[in-house]
Amino acid sequence: MSRIAYVNGRYLPFGDAKIHIEDRGYQFADGVYEVCEVREGRLVDAPRHFARLMRSLVEVRIRPPMSLAALGVVLREVVAKNRIGYGIAYVQITRGMARRDHAFPIPEVVPSVVVTARVLNKARREALAANGIGVISVADNRWGRVDIKTIGLLPNVLARQAAVEQGARDAWFVDKDGQVTEGASANAWIVAASGSVVTRPADHAILRGVARTVLLDVIKAQGLLLEERPFTLQEAYAAREAFVTSATQIVLPVVSIDGRTIGDGKPGPIATALRREFHRYAEVG
Ligand code: PDD
Repeated sequence: MSRIAYVNGRYLPFGDAKIHIEDRGYQFADGVYEVCEVREGRLVDAPRHFARLMRSLVEVRIRPPMSLAALGVVLREVVAKNRIGYGIAYVQITRGMARRDHAFPIPEVVPSVVVTARVLNKARREALAANGIGVISVADNRWGRVDIKTIGLLPNVLARQAAVEQGARDAWFVDKDGQVTEGASANAWIVAASGSVVTRPADHAILRGVARTVLLDVIKAQGLLLEERPFTLQEAYAAREAFVTSATQIVLPVVSIDGRTIGDGKPGPIATALRREFHRYAEVG
């Protein structure tokens, strides 16, 4: 079955799904995006992803090109047309197409909207979670507003590539104070020596992950101690457990950081339990 994408009001076969070379997303990474998990053909936590998309649009001053209700219809349509059971849906909104000039176009142009969806291999994902992943640390060289989910992801791309080249799966950004901010495409967590689950507060230095927000509910329901505070790379090396969260990875155990074994080198009991419980607290619709 050939894949179908939504591009500016039309559902098109992938080969015909095109955006102009002077789209500001292409020229300046002047746009925002969301990635939503799909389970049994349904979007997971769509309202939270849409709320964050709206916030990103407001922060970068792109006028929402359609209502959230309409966008929801499009996403569900793309998921259905591509017959996605388990996978992801992607939406990207850029400031639109205009002659290349850094300042906003005058007169204003219509934002470009692209929606795609694809299948993920569930068995492969579960195997990854059962084994855990390795991460490396890299200096956080991103701009000061990574709380906005923009498509400007070059530092994230280079960090992930560095991880791959070192035989790891992901990279954790570390700020100038030696504190972990987040992963290249996920939020970072540890279980400290005290047994508390620790993650950095959602300030401007990290993206407030939807999976992170859901997990805070799971942690509370499990009666675990939570500390929302920065943690250093040194503390992470000595942690009992470590893991990452994102829409595509849910709760994914980390078993080594910079080649140092975390805990006993196997996915820890807390990360494993949080992964198992996650979808009881996520909203499916
Ligand atoms: N990334 N931090 C960063 C830098 C991210 O790119 C992501 C998600 C997250 C986790 O957010 P959420 O829980 O809402 O997925 C944190 C997506 C999956 C991506 O870029 O593919």
